[in-house]
Amino acid sequence: MAKAEGRLRALARKLAAWDVAAALADVAHRNDYVRPHVTAGEAIAIRDGRHPVVERYAAAGHFVPNDTRLDLSGERLWLITGPNMAGKSTLMRQVALIVVLAQMGSYVPAREAEIGLIDRILSRVGASDNVARGESTFMVEMRETAEILRGATRRSLVILDEIGRGTSTYDGLAIAWAVAEHLFEAVGCRALFATHYHELTELSSRAPGIANYSVAAREHGDDVIFLHKLEAGPASRSYGVAVARLAGVPESVLARARAILATLESGAALPGGKHASLRGRNRAGAAQLDLFAPAQPAVPPEQAAVIETLRAVDVDRLAPLDALRLVAKLKGLLAGGGR
Ligand SMILES: Nc1ncnc2c1ncn2[C@@H]1O[C@H](COP(=O)(O)OP(=O)(O)OP(=O)(O)O)[C@@H](O)[C@H]1O
Ligand SMILES: [Mg+2]
Repeated sequence: MAKAEGRLRALARKLAAWDVAAALADVAHRNDYVRPHVTAGEAIAIRDGRHPVVERYAAAGHFVPNDTRLDLSGERLWLITGPNMAGKSTLMRQVALIVVLAQMGSYVPAREAEIGLIDRILSRVGASDNVARGESTFMVEMRETAEILRGATRRSLVILDEIGRGTSTYDGLAIAWAVAEHLFEAVGCRALFATHYHELTELSSRAPGIANYSVAAREHGDDVIFLHKLEAGPASRSYGVAVARLAGVPESVLARARAILATLESGAALPGGKHASLRGRNRAGAAQLDLFAPAQPAVPPEQAAVIETLRAVDVDRLAPLDALRLVAKLKGLLAGGGR
């Protein structure tokens, strides 16, 4: 038996390789995958790409395919905006998965795919921390970002999901902006960059190689309908409060959030009296960078907050207990408590 060891190992290796190939073929056949064209070119062009896992589970039966085209001599940095829950992360991961599948010799979940070889995929997705090793959430985010900036070459594919979210708005936006510029100018790789900083979408006016895309959603009363379809151009809104409502955040908190949002977006004084305008947006959804718009408080700030909170509240959806909490909150606001 010991004498056969070498042959047995070789046989096991062959069987393992056949097993992988057979499994990939089975998956491709069952799920309607297509054979990708892997080329030495500089484009990644995917028509009707799908996320192989999301299409089978979370969105089984109603997955919306999307096209992606990154090209070193065309659009190489895509800035992707769109509401929470729209499908930004799904799209970026599906592109990365399709590239990995193609380069390992598998068929891919798409109608057509041309994959210009990449040397590596570098990604930063999702918030995590490592408190046991002395690293906070933002520290982990920045360490991963640093590794990406050091490791990426012109031939890499970089996937950045919401860089800069773990710190203050100004710091986060500034870092996200600088990282995007560095990837585009110094590294020159193909990259997908999802962000909620609408201000970043201005970058596309700097160079033809930077393009804005957004995942579509439509408003329907207080609700938001996710179409999951990628469109050219930046998104106009985030719908964060609408998504918080879907998730079951209490109505009184939502009403207060809507009021604060309206105050921030109009550039008026906050309940605490500070004149902070985090981001002004015009009707067409274009971002503005005048971050310190002057405030014009017409009524005392605590009264303005009460009025706006009341205006934003949806009485039909207010549970009795939430109504009581709301009254307590309004009284607190009038007393100058600010919460
Ligand atoms: N193309 C699609 N077709 C159908 N459903 C989708 C599609 N893309 C995403 N979804 C569904 O929407 C959910 C949210 O998607 P995803 O996490 O990609 O959103 P997101 O835009 O990254 O949101 P956030 O801004 O909160 O990170 C997925 O879990 C999936 O169920
Ligand atoms: Mg996401």
